[in-house]
Amino acid sequence: MKLMNALLSPVGRKVLTGATGIGLVAFVIAHMIGNLTYLSPDVNAYNAYAYKLMSLGWLFYTIEILLALCFLLHAAVGISIRVRRRKARPVGYKFYKSAGTPGKSGYSARSMIFTGIILLGFLILHLNSFKYGPGVAEGYTVELAGIGEVRDLRRLMTEKFQEPLYAFGYPLVMILLGMHMRHGVWSALQSLGMMSRRLSPYLYTTAAILGILVAVGFLFVPLYIYFGV
Ligand code: HEM
Repeated sequence: MKLMNALLSPVGRKVLTGATGIGLVAFVIAHMIGNLTYLSPDVNAYNAYAYKLMSLGWLFYTIEILLALCFLLHAAVGISIRVRRRKARPVGYKFYKSAGTPGKSGYSARSMIFTGIILLGFLILHLNSFKYGPGVAEGYTVELAGIGEVRDLRRLMTEKFQEPLYAFGYPLVMILLGMHMRHGVWSALQSLGMMSRRLSPYLYTTAAILGILVAVGFLFVPLYIYFGV
């Protein structure tokens, strides 16, 4: 009960969004690196990678459940922080002024709820297109040496990113993801007590670089497929 009250306190909520956010960042980086195997000269590399993940069995499903919990908690607590803040100050500030270090109330910070909700909507459409999209039953199969017939996710990706809506919609969302991560990582480190006057500028730069790397790492594959480089 005491733990529950602590977690639901304003500080507890920030710690919860921070901790779940760090878990999501780890997933997003791993997912981005995995996607880059699409670019491998070995055309089977991406499907082999996806197959290897699935064949982790119970470990894969445990990670999936933890991931779903992280997404749900992160979104729910993030929205509740925003609702509480609105209630505390129904009429927003007329002007925003950067608080500088360590406040960092820049554009990314103010747009967290906006980028967050778009990312949530994106995730639902994304899972519907890929994870729950056409598979073996619909004829999306490929033969892998030493493994046999597996789902042809590479074909699905190639087809999807030939459609302009996907080819340009994804990169747009990936830029929003980069912005969300830039502020999120910095804010999480602060909530988890890792900030100090000396470290703060370095960590802020690291969070910005991470946001840019993830956005570029993700948006490259859709554009590469669309323009058939
Ligand atoms: C260019 C960008 C992206 C591409 C091409 C891409 C591609 C894919 C593909 C092909 C799958 C299906 C994997 C499978 O069923 O084995 C997948 C699953 C998934 N993607 Fe993405 N993805 C992208 C960006 C993102 C982003 C930005 C997020 C999160 C914010 C995300 C979250 C997920 C999740 C949660 C799954 C399900 C993982 C699982 O349960 O197996 N993806 N993605």
